[in-house]
Amino acid sequence: MEKFEEKYREYQGFFEGELKEYCAKMKYFPKVLTESMRYSLLSGGKRVRPVLLFAALELFGKEYRDEVNLAIALEMVHTYSLIHDDLPAMDNDDFRRGNPSSHKVFGEANAILAGDALLNEAFVLLLQEAGRGEEVRRAAYHLARAAGAEGMVAGQSADLLYEGKDVSGDELDFIYLHKTSKLIAAPVVMAAILAGADETLAEKFGLELGRLFQITDDLLDVKGDSARVGKTLGKDEQEDKATCVKVYGVERCELLADECAAKCLKLLDKFNGEPNFLRGMVDLVRSRDN
Ligand code: IPE
Ligand code: IPE
Ligand code: MG
Ligand code: MG
Ligand code: MG
Repeated sequence: MEKFEEKYREYQGFFEGELKEYCAKMKYFPKVLTESMRYSLLSGGKRVRPVLLFAALELFGKEYRDEVNLAIALEMVHTYSLIHDDLPAMDNDDFRRGNPSSHKVFGEANAILAGDALLNEAFVLLLQEAGRGEEVRRAAYHLARAAGAEGMVAGQSADLLYEGKDVSGDELDFIYLHKTSKLIAAPVVMAAILAGADETLAEKFGLELGRLFQITDDLLDVKGDSARVGKTLGKDEQEDKATCVKVYGVERCELLADECAAKCLKLLDKFNGEPNFLRGMVDLVRSRDN
């Protein structure tokens, strides 16, 4: 476990350093635009998606440091999704990563624009990198699809559609798969594309890990410690959100999370190489408190 934590810190530390450097170079006018982009990008966060990209690249035999721009693009897409997710028109959340949400600091219009800018900045990076070759182009294309109208945005749309309504297990599965799993699977699939590894297996694992990630997100909203989680808790029930807890209740959610973690580990047994770090990721996502 110690080895896992050490390695996580290595990936995360490398990423934070590179991201800080990237942010220091952003000098867009008006200043508030740059400041709002930096504010959300540098406000912490677990950096799960960049870490997954790095870990999968290493597992598949590639130098992870070479793909830092893809990791930054992933985190930019994710961060934009959080800024917009917190907006009053969506989840109306005042706290994110232990700090006031973007719209609380910069106002709603600037928060919308910070999200827009981060999404586009991500595509600037992806298109720059895509010039390196066919595999990078395909990895970028994968991320575009995972983030958009057949991916995360579809999930967010469905999440809003089912707010305040009865929701079935299948409908919840649709929301989970799209709003969360696709962007958690994306780094693993992108690494497989870049390394010529088994993309189907990578995706199966990533989607299952994403499902686990959202189950534990929903559980944390009920039983987490808000100082640790860095968000206002109890919001899902308050807004009558379509969550795992609403559909199945807390106890069954815990069982579902265990089942999901077991499925992830089983899939990892099929991976070539030594996926110990990814096993650690499964344990972390299952037992996380933030
Ligand atoms: C939160 O994502 C949104 C969900 C998909 C549940 P994270 O839990 O990865 O958020 P940060 O980046 O660590 O703040
Ligand atoms: C996250 O779902 C979905 C995103 C794509 C951002 P939530 O709305 O449950 O995420 P949190 O709890 O606000 O982080
Ligand atoms: Mg939401
Ligand atoms: Mg939310
Ligand atoms: Mg949540």
